[in-house]
Amino acid sequence: MDSPKTSDKGYGRDDWQKHYETGDMGWDLGQVAPPFVRLWDEKKLVPGTTLIPGCGRGHEVLFLAQNGFQVTGVDFSPGAVDALTRSLQEKGLQAEVLHQDFFELEDQHDSKYDLMLEQTFFCAIHPSQRSRYVETAARILKPNGLLAALFYATGEEGGPPYDTTAADIRHHFSSTFTIEHLEKTPHSIDKRKDKEWLGLLRRK
Ligand SMILES: C[S@@+](CC[C@H](N)C(=O)[O-])C[C@H]1O[C@@H](n2cnc3c(N)ncnc32)[C@H](O)[C@@H]1O
Repeated sequence: MDSPKTSDKGYGRDDWQKHYETGDMGWDLGQVAPPFVRLWDEKKLVPGTTLIPGCGRGHEVLFLAQNGFQVTGVDFSPGAVDALTRSLQEKGLQAEVLHQDFFELEDQHDSKYDLMLEQTFFCAIHPSQRSRYVETAARILKPNGLLAALFYATGEEGGPPYDTTAADIRHHFSSTFTIEHLEKTPHSIDKRKDKEWLGLLRRK
């Protein structure tokens, strides 16, 4: 992800929305991230109820909807939600698009999802929110549900995007998730080579 802007307080809803209004979306690959396509080809993703937090324009939402997943995309920026809603209509695909804060998902989402899949969301939130991210992910996933994530290792100070190390992932997730797989994926697009941890984390 290219940096939106360095800030030590983190980004709020209005900051993200400005990027959609000005078309400055350096993080947006314009396609589903290749490591996820690979996981699908290797049959490591099983169709079921799926939530994608901070989904942006939703390339992953479209890809999974196309492949028979029952997908819910969540983003609190209207620009993201509008773009994804339009793409779903244009492609004749079905998915639920929620315009809301991931951390405030109501209890109707508790234990509802077989899969949570994301990229460039954990790195987009302020590090002080990481525990809340883990709590929310653990709450909405079914027992044995899978978190499939591309965690961005910027190797830099500040953010967003905020650097994510393997130690950060183990520190935050080990008490509620079993880390089944964690490696720098060789399948990243060129500009993210050696910068993405592919994590497959199973809800305990
Ligand atoms: C860096 S962008 C990544 C978008 C998408 N995952 C992608 O890779 O194209 C981060 C997204 O997270 C959204 N976001 C940030 N904090 C959020 C929150 N607390 N709840 C919901 N969405 C949030 C922003 O609006 C933005 O669309």
